[in-house]
Amino acid sequence: MEERLNKFIAANGFSSRRKIDEFIQQGRVTVNGKTIFDLGYKIDTDTDKVAVDGERIKQSEKKDYIMMNKPDGVVTTVSDEKHRPTVIDILNSNTKIFPVGRLDYHTTGLLILTNDGDFANKLMNPSFKVYKTYITKLSKPLEAKHRMALEKGIRLEGRYTLPAKISFLNDKDFTKVAITISEGKNRQVRRMFEHYGYFVNSLHRSEYGSLKLGNLKPGEWRKLTKQETESLLTNQKPIVVKQQPLKDDKIKDRGNKPVPGKKDFENKFSGDKRKSNSKPDFKKKFKKDGTKKFTNNHKEKKFDGTKRADKKKIRRA
Ligand code: URA
Repeated sequence: MEERLNKFIAANGFSSRRKIDEFIQQGRVTVNGKTIFDLGYKIDTDTDKVAVDGERIKQSEKKDYIMMNKPDGVVTTVSDEKHRPTVIDILNSNTKIFPVGRLDYHTTGLLILTNDGDFANKLMNPSFKVYKTYITKLSKPLEAKHRMALEKGIRLEGRYTLPAKISFLNDKDFTKVAITISEGKNRQVRRMFEHYGYFVNSLHRSEYGSLKLGNLKPGEWRKLTKQETESLLTNQKPIVVKQQPLKDDKIKDRGNKPVPGKKDFENKFSGDKRKSNSKPDFKKKFKKDGTKKFTNNHKEKKFDGTKRADKKKIRRA
């Protein structure tokens, strides 16, 4: 990029532009070893080597941190060989911004972009568990036994997924669920549901670590505040998923409340040790295969996600 010599030196933390002009007039500034006296001299910031009193001035890139609501039909890459629109096209930026991780072509929602490689590497490091919440519409109602298995972790391509948190968003429609995971394997959420024969009709990331998408519309973006970028790196609290408890689903949701006997929710939720994520209450009321225990009358009943009122209607019909 072409830039005026004095502007370049000032932008890179070396005194005011007026002072720098004095330095230039005094013959203290060199470009590629050659002394420059011209105050209007322009340099190529990518290739020219600038020094003041022999001390090299390096381009200190300003760090940008951006949150975008990725729309459907956009690829999460810097460029696309098939010439599909990219998230960088949306930004229309000439700085070297790149996405942190990726969302599928058809996944919408919260995406972070930055030019800070260290920041991106830290967030993407598998050992640094960032909790991500996705809202999904499934092709059929999610059964309790599948919810339980997915929460505990399932074997996908030879490896177990870490414990997840699944909530129903509607007490009548069990196809609408929120899932929070702390991993970022390729197509992970889709593959988790597909494992039990559910097709993911839509997928939207609403939360990433401590960030929530808020009211950003698809295709809109904004810069993160310093506080937000810092909280991403430090405040790794799991996200509270707003949950509508199901009347027929006797699973007592704990939200983010600490598990009895455990220090905090994170203890329970960090799962390399293959710890069970099922609630004590859940264990009391359900067997491993999702069969409900009826301790009073010893009857067994499969929980199939159908509400009692609906069952009555079915029986009457
Ligand atoms: N999981 C998926 O399956 N797709 C995404 O885009 C993100 C998470």
